[in-house]
Amino acid sequence: MARIECPECHYVIETTGIVTVCPECKADMTKAMEEAGRVERRVRGSIAKDDSVTTHEFIVRTKGLKKIYRMGEVEVPALRGVDLDIRRGEYLSIMGPSGSGKSTLFNMVGGLDKPSEGTCFIEEVDMAQLDAFELAWLRCRKIGYIFQSFNLIPVMTALENVTLPMIFAGMSTDEMMERGRMLLELVGLGGRLHHKPFELSGGQQQRVAVARALANSPAIILADEPTGNLDLQTGKEIIDLLKELNAESGVTIISATHDLKMIDASDRIVHIRDGEIERIELRSELDLQIGHLAGAEGG
Ligand SMILES: Nc1ncnc2c1ncn2[C@@H]1O[C@H](COP(=O)(O)OP(=O)(O)OP(=O)(O)O)[C@@H](O)[C@H]1O
Ligand SMILES: [Mg+2]
Repeated sequence: MARIECPECHYVIETTGIVTVCPECKADMTKAMEEAGRVERRVRGSIAKDDSVTTHEFIVRTKGLKKIYRMGEVEVPALRGVDLDIRRGEYLSIMGPSGSGKSTLFNMVGGLDKPSEGTCFIEEVDMAQLDAFELAWLRCRKIGYIFQSFNLIPVMTALENVTLPMIFAGMSTDEMMERGRMLLELVGLGGRLHHKPFELSGGQQQRVAVARALANSPAIILADEPTGNLDLQTGKEIIDLLKELNAESGVTIISATHDLKMIDASDRIVHIRDGEIERIELRSELDLQIGHLAGAEGG
């Protein structure tokens, strides 16, 4: 629960959500909202700090999430009712065959697309209730995105790519440069600050993307097949890096993957098929399986 005071009429709002406009005098509350997040951040002080002003157990909840794509006369049901609760600080892998709905689910959770039916809550805030400004704020501040194809801006250096989201968050230039350097060092690219994407290897480009995802200290990182374009070893290094960030800073990681070898970083694995959750496996069950596999390989 945060106490946010209106800068104009000094009306105090106790909230667990996002407030952009004072309910009393309609003044802009975004600065006060961000200050509340900043104070909380200073208190916690870590790398990928969760700057939420609230501490809900479930950082993401979906209820009856459905998505039907309409292609002229044809309806393609991509999600058929997904109920999923994701704990704060969890490392969750989403597995499923091609076309099972992984990216569609990511787009809903990441606020990049709207469900046809059902609800997606981020920290108990119903995303459907947010206006365009609030949704942009949430995407910029709460969520870091990593894609299979890196999605870096080709004409920008590593440092510029990483600092770009900070511009949208209104950080000062000095602060941006310092944080950009720190994040690139964190992902092992302190010596590549001024390289452009084409001057970097695939693994290095994905490291830049990881640093960029951390730009505004998100609470959640959504990684859609982050290792899909990488060789096995480089892919494993990216997963290890994400796992490290998750363990050290408590950022919640939701990662889609095809690769069975990537599952040992996960706390839980959600298997989806034809737009539905087929089953959910826990870490403890996985340990058994990995032990079994290792035993089988050894013998
Ligand atoms: N924009 C779209 N318009 C129409 N149909 C779509 C669209 N995006 C996805 N689909 C369909 O929705 C289903 C789920 O697609 P989605 O991209 O979520 O799968 P995925 O699990 O991410 O697959 P992959 O592992 O290949 O990335 C597929 O049948 C796909 O053809
Ligand atoms: Mg996909």
